Parts: sequence; C-alpha cells; structure tokens
Amino acid sequence: MSHEPSTGATRVSSGAAFVEIRGVGKTYRSRRGDVAALSGIDLGIGSGEFVSVLGPSGCGKSTLMRCLAGLEHVSSGEIVIGGRSHDGPPEGLGVVFQRDVLLDWRTVLDNVMLPIEVHRLDPSGWEQKARELLALLGLTGFEDRHPWELSGGMRQRVSICRALLMNPSLLLMDEPFGALDAMTRDELNLELQRVWMGDAKTVFFVTHSIQEAVFLGDRVVVMSPSPGRIVEIIDVTLPRPRDLDIRETPEFGAMVRHIRGLFLSMGVMKAARHGRGVAAVGG
Ligand SMILES: Nc1ncnc2c1ncn2[C@@H]1O[C@H](COP(=O)(O)OP(=O)(O)OP(=O)(O)O)[C@@H](O)[C@H]1O
Ligand SMILES: [Mg+2]
Repeated sequence: MSHEPSTGATRVSSGAAFVEIRGVGKTYRSRRGDVAALSGIDLGIGSGEFVSVLGPSGCGKSTLMRCLAGLEHVSSGEIVIGGRSHDGPPEGLGVVFQRDVLLDWRTVLDNVMLPIEVHRLDPSGWEQKARELLALLGLTGFEDRHPWELSGGMRQRVSICRALLMNPSLLLMDEPFGALDAMTRDELNLELQRVWMGDAKTVFFVTHSIQEAVFLGDRVVVMSPSPGRIVEIIDVTLPRPRDLDIRETPEFGAMVRHIRGLFLSMGVMKAARHGRGVAAVGG
C-alpha cells in the first residue's frame, strides 16, 4: 500500500483486511462481579491504514488495544492479524502506551534498543537504525541522556522510536499524547503523520481528542459507553499530508461537529458553554 502524499484518497485495503476483529467481546471476571468491557466489536483494518479510535473513558479502548496486542484474551469472537488468528503477542507489533515505560537507569539509545535485547538479537546491526529513528524524531544529541533528563514530549518520542525500531507492520498507540501540552501534541501529530506516510504501517490509534482523531485518521471509530460497541465509523477524506491549518477548514469542522453530535446524543458530552468548544470526550 503506497503512502503518496496529496492523493486525497482514503486508503482502501485490497482483499481481506490486515487486522480482522470479529464479534469480539470481553468480560473481566472478578470477585466483585463481572465487568462487560466490550461487546460485539467488528472491525477490519486495511494494510497501511490509520484508524483512530474515540470513546468515553471506560468504554474499553485500552481493553481492545490490549486484546490486539495479545496482552489480554478475548471472551468471545476472534482477532485475526495478517491472516492468522492470534491469542498472544503477534509478530511485527509495536506498542506505545499512554504513560511511557522507559527505564530510567538506561540511556535514551539503550531504551530504544531494548527490544533487540528482549529478542536476543545481535545489537550491532540495529544501533544505526536506532540512531536514525532518534534523528527522525528530533532527538539527535540526546542518545546518551537518561529519561529523567528529558521533557514529557521527548520521552514519548523515545517510546515511539522504540516501538518503531523493529519495523512493525502494526503499530498500536493508546493515547500516546494525552499527557502532553497542546503545542507538543500538535508537533508529534505532524511527526507521526510523517513517519506513517514514509512507511506502510497499519496504525490503531486510541485518543480522547476528536480533533486529533480526525486530523490523523483515515477512519475514525466512535465507541459507545461501557460495554464498548462501535457506534459509527467515519471516513476522513481530507487530503494528505495534512498540515495543522486543515483544522480550520469547513470539512474538518463538519466532521468534528458530527462526532461531537454522536457523543452528545449518547449523553457522554454536554453542549459547549460560553462559546468554549469541547474537543475532549469523557475523562
Ligand atoms: N483488569 C481489569 N479488571 C477488571 N476490570 C477492568 C480491567 N481493566 C479494565 N477494566 C474495566 O473495563 C472497562 C473498560 O476499561 P478500559 O481501560 O478498556 O477503558 P478505556 O476506554 O481505555 O478508558 P480510558 O479512556 O479511561 O483509558 C472499565 O469499566 C474498566 O473498569
Ligand atoms: Mg484507556
């Protein structure tokens, strides 16, 4: 699947989707009772497609992502990735969590190189790739620093480098920029788009921000409150590469309003007061 800029076309997979989520339900069982987190999730994600997932707090976004990552068993249905049903971490996977999971006693470079150690690979062939990724994400000169010397945005960039190092075909991101200030978030949105357009990765991107979901996604999946179901899937037909000004266009505004309307109708969001727009959903 090519990522040529400015085609304006939404990526469509040929044949079967790369990721097939079929009738997936998830119930957590505990002594305090059962929690139905997901119900009847059906979603196909094309190879190279960027799918944003939006939903109120507690609707099961992280649960779905953990099921895709093989970190959680589904209670019903199945997940097929690259034609193979999986019930464990699939191959070729990169994951970025909401809070970065960097090891403070290792340098930036050694944090990025961690997967190589975990997979017991020869590090010599990978260090150059790690340095290139750090450069791509604007971290040249910080290779020998430690995570505690970095800002939140820089730490999250290191996490992204680590997730990308082994060239995953599927990248799962759970609110990776949720804790960042608006300007850093904008910057990382642009960088993520650039990285994604340069390489045919399939991305599953969980966010609370309607604007971020529309800005980044080929499609936006909107989920209902718990137990999470898919309410609507919106095609984002805005041309790429998208710059931040696209958020000021009538097309972008219409999509954001439409999604906000879905959350208003679900009772998840209250109407904006005193002219202050509501961009975030739930928590
Ligand atoms: N390990 C667990 N055991 C029991 N219940 C859980 C567990 N993890 C999540 N849940 C419950 O499952 C539901 C979905 O949780 P999940 O973390 O997937 O939501 P979310 O959409 O990611 O929320 P947020 O936007 O706040 O991150 C919630 O009701 C939560 O309390
Ligand atoms: Mg979550």
